[in-house]
Amino acid sequence: MTTPMDFLHGPLVSEAIDLGAVLLLALGLKGLAKVSSARSANALAAAAMLLAVVGLLLQQQPEPAAWAWIAAGTGLGTVAGMVTARRVPMTAMPEVVALFNGCGGMASLLVAMGVALFDADAAGLVDRISIAVSVFVGAITFSGSLVAMAKLQGWLDTPAWTQSQLRHGVNLVLALLCLGGALLLPADPGGLPLWLLGIAATLLGIGVTLPIGGADMPVVISLLNSYSGVAAAAAGFVVGSRLLIVAGAMVGAAGLILTQVMCTAMNRSLVSVLFGGALGAGAHVGGGGDEAGYSRITSCSPEECAMALEQAERVVFVPGYGLAVAQAQHALRELSKLLEAHGVEVSYAIHPVAGRMPGHMNVLLAEADVPYEQLLEMDTINPEFPRTDVVIVLGANDVVNPQAKSDPSSPLFGMPVLEVDQARQVFVVKRSLGAGYAGIANALFELPQTAMVFGDAKAVINGLISELRALGVGRAKMAA
Ligand code: TAP
Repeated sequence: MTTPMDFLHGPLVSEAIDLGAVLLLALGLKGLAKVSSARSANALAAAAMLLAVVGLLLQQQPEPAAWAWIAAGTGLGTVAGMVTARRVPMTAMPEVVALFNGCGGMASLLVAMGVALFDADAAGLVDRISIAVSVFVGAITFSGSLVAMAKLQGWLDTPAWTQSQLRHGVNLVLALLCLGGALLLPADPGGLPLWLLGIAATLLGIGVTLPIGGADMPVVISLLNSYSGVAAAAAGFVVGSRLLIVAGAMVGAAGLILTQVMCTAMNRSLVSVLFGGALGAGAHVGGGGDEAGYSRITSCSPEECAMALEQAERVVFVPGYGLAVAQAQHALRELSKLLEAHGVEVSYAIHPVAGRMPGHMNVLLAEADVPYEQLLEMDTINPEFPRTDVVIVLGANDVVNPQAKSDPSSPLFGMPVLEVDQARQVFVVKRSLGAGYAGIANALFELPQTAMVFGDAKAVINGLISELRALGVGRAKMAA
């Protein structure tokens, strides 16, 4: 007779839980496409993962001794996740995303190695091929993501030798070793080929990621994100988890689409990113840099900038990495509200690679409740600049550099940029004449319609708010 416990541990409940988890995950991923639903979508995806873990535990019924390990792993992961989520500043999110990609790759690598080393006898041919794929992609994702994180953090530069042809030779040898290991692995899953494949793929991840730098980093991060999905899907085949296969495939596909979007934004082909020279490889993180070489710089005070704003009918804000550093998004929203109450038409120009991660500016401005419809993508806003009275560039640099359009010798040449040089008046808010991520000078700063407002973005915006209020802009709102 079937007892309730048998039913609970039976295939029907297991299938229902799997289906529920997959549906929740798909809904979660769909919700992430919109800022307004992203928060609840994240909760849905987390619930999907919890459900999947519960389903797995019900199905596998671990030995009593294993529960201590499961509890320790769950506790450690939960604490690490919560501490990271609470303590990491917005500006360090790209590094965290890179690290999490690496963790995903490592998990797939370890799962596949675990099966290969301890449970290979039960593995069929498809499982063995999946082990090879999971070890290969997982190891590349793991080491590549750690290199990407170190580069974003400014711990690692692009070594000069990686810009020579030598790297292609080194990577080719590593790729051939991986191929050899992968071909031999199905016949001897727990033996030498596993280690050959694991070590060669780890080194290949370093060899492929190390030469890529500067403005190409967005492409690398999205590609590694995609790899982590592929590795998870392969691990799903290894352990027979449908959820892992579906989730991995969705992450892999989403990462590939993002990679394509990033390549289009940079006007680079994936092949040239992976095998060409690094775009702006001499980049340094976080600005600063060479202030020499400018001869026609005009600077002004927040007071003069506020007077121009007060007269304007149409204002466009261009947020960049410096806005995130200054955490000035809330102050910016307050400034926008003040201008809107004064009858000014306000919008925000969003460049796809502004900041340090895909969607960085969207997330930053959503945090300050900036209405989504005011965020205009590059293709929409560019034709609008000629009829814009005032553009305020806030901590952005590379994404507004006109040399990307006109100077074939510029490392940014070919990257579509926000054409703020077409506006009537441009104010650039930044702390110095230092360079942006690509490490090069910006011709915008010397144009006759440009004035620099030097200072931290938050301090300058707060200054603008005070000046506008002094000009009576706030009072106009109250009267209305
Ligand atoms: P950047 O070109 O990096 O320029 C940021 C500017 O912000 C710097 O010139 C810096 O000048 C200024 N800044 C820093 N802190 C500031 C503060 N507290 N207040 C005011 N200004 C401050 O930024 P961007 O225009 O957003 O371009 C992004 C770059 O990063 C592109 O080259 C892109 O390819 C690259 N990248 C993007 C991603 C993704 S996925 N978005 C990932 C990796 C790399 P001062 O030091 O003079 O203040």
